[in-house]
Amino acid sequence: MEPVFLRACRGESVEHVPVWFMRQAGRSLPEYRALRGTGSILDAIADPALACEITLQPVRRYGVDAAILFSDIVVPYHAIDFGVDVVPGRGPVIADPFTSRRDLERLRDLTVGDIAHVTNTIDLVVRELATTNTPLIGFAGAPFTVASYLVEGGPTREFAVIKGLMHRDPTLFDELLDRLVAITITFLRAQVDHGARAIQLFDSWAGALTRDEYRRFALPATQRVLEALADLNVPTILFGVGTGELLDLMSTAGSSVMGIDWHVDLDEGRRRVGERPVQGNLDPARCLNGVELGVAAAREVLQRAGRDAGHIFNLGHGVLPTTDPTVLEAIVRVVHDEGRAGVQ
Ligand code: CP3
Repeated sequence: MEPVFLRACRGESVEHVPVWFMRQAGRSLPEYRALRGTGSILDAIADPALACEITLQPVRRYGVDAAILFSDIVVPYHAIDFGVDVVPGRGPVIADPFTSRRDLERLRDLTVGDIAHVTNTIDLVVRELATTNTPLIGFAGAPFTVASYLVEGGPTREFAVIKGLMHRDPTLFDELLDRLVAITITFLRAQVDHGARAIQLFDSWAGALTRDEYRRFALPATQRVLEALADLNVPTILFGVGTGELLDLMSTAGSSVMGIDWHVDLDEGRRRVGERPVQGNLDPARCLNGVELGVAAAREVLQRAGRDAGHIFNLGHGVLPTTDPTVLEAIVRVVHDEGRAGVQ
C-alpha cells in the first residue's frame, strides 16, 4: 500500500493525518549535534554515510510519515563551484555574488556526476527506509529564492539588491532565472531517479515580493520547474514564508500540494488554494514552551484543518534550533491519534 503521506498529497482519504517537520534533521536533535561536529554543513552533505544517518535520525525518533533528504538549497551551486559556503547561524554566503551578464558563465548546466554525493546518499537512505515503507522527500530551492542568495551574496531582510536587478535589468534577471531553472530541474530529476518519492520546492523568500513582482519574476520559473517534473508522477509541494497574499497565485504554479506558513489560518489557507491539498502550519515558536503548550497549539491547527482530506501536518516553517525534541514527539502522537481528516 502507498504510504499515508503520499496518498494525502494526492488528496486521498487516509487513516490518519500524516506529519513531518521542515528542518526535522538538524540542531534541535542532540544526536545530530553529536554527529555533526563543527565542520561546514556542506562537508557533512558531501559524506553519504553521514548524510544518510542524519536523514534517518528524525524518522527514528519521531516516527514521522516522511524523511527529508539532509541537503541544502545551495548544494547544486556549490557543486558547480559558484563559490558558496554555509555559515553556521547565518546561512548561505556567496564569495563573489552574481552582478552582471559575465556571471551567467559561472552557472553552467549541472550534470548528475556533479551531485554523485547526493544521489549516493539517496541510494543509502532509500535502502534503509524500505523496511518501514517511509517515503523520502527530495527538495530544491525555487529559482527566485536561490537567486536572492546568489545576487544578494547572503541572507537579507530587504531584498534590495535583487529587487534592484529585477527592475533595472529584467532581461538579465530572466537569463539568470533560466540558468537556475535548468539546474533545478536536473537536481530534482536526479533525486527522483534515485528514489525520492515526493519533491518540495522551497520558495522560502517569495513572501518578500509584491503580487506583481511574484507574477512577473518568480512564478514563471517555478511553473517551468514543476512542468518539467510532471512526467515523473511524484507529488510536489510548493512552500514559502509570509506568502498569505500570494497563495492564490502560487497555486497556479502547478504543485500537487501547497505549503501554508503560520501567518494564515489553515481554514483560510485552504480557501485560498482551492481544491489542492495543504501542508502546514503550526507556528514553530509555539513548540518552544514545553509539551503541553506545543500539543495545544497542534490541536488548534488540526481544528482549523477540518476533516476534509488533503492535510499534511507540518510546521509553518522550519524547526527552530532550540526546540525540545520531546515537544515534537508529543505532537506526532497527537496528530496521529486525533488528526482524522479524510477518514472514511
Ligand atoms: O531536515 C530538513 O528539513 C532537511 C535539511 C534542510 C537543510 N536546509 C539543512 C540545513 C533543508 C530542507 C534545507 C533547505 C534550506 N536551506 C532552505 C529552505 C528552507 C527554509 O528554511 O526556508 C533555505 C532558505 C536554506 C539556506 C540555509 N541553509 C539557511 C537559511 C541555513 C541556516 C543557517 C543557520 O545556521 O541557522 C542553512 C544551513 C542549514 N541547512 C542547517 C541545516 C540543518 C543548519 C546549519 C548546520 O547544522 O550546520
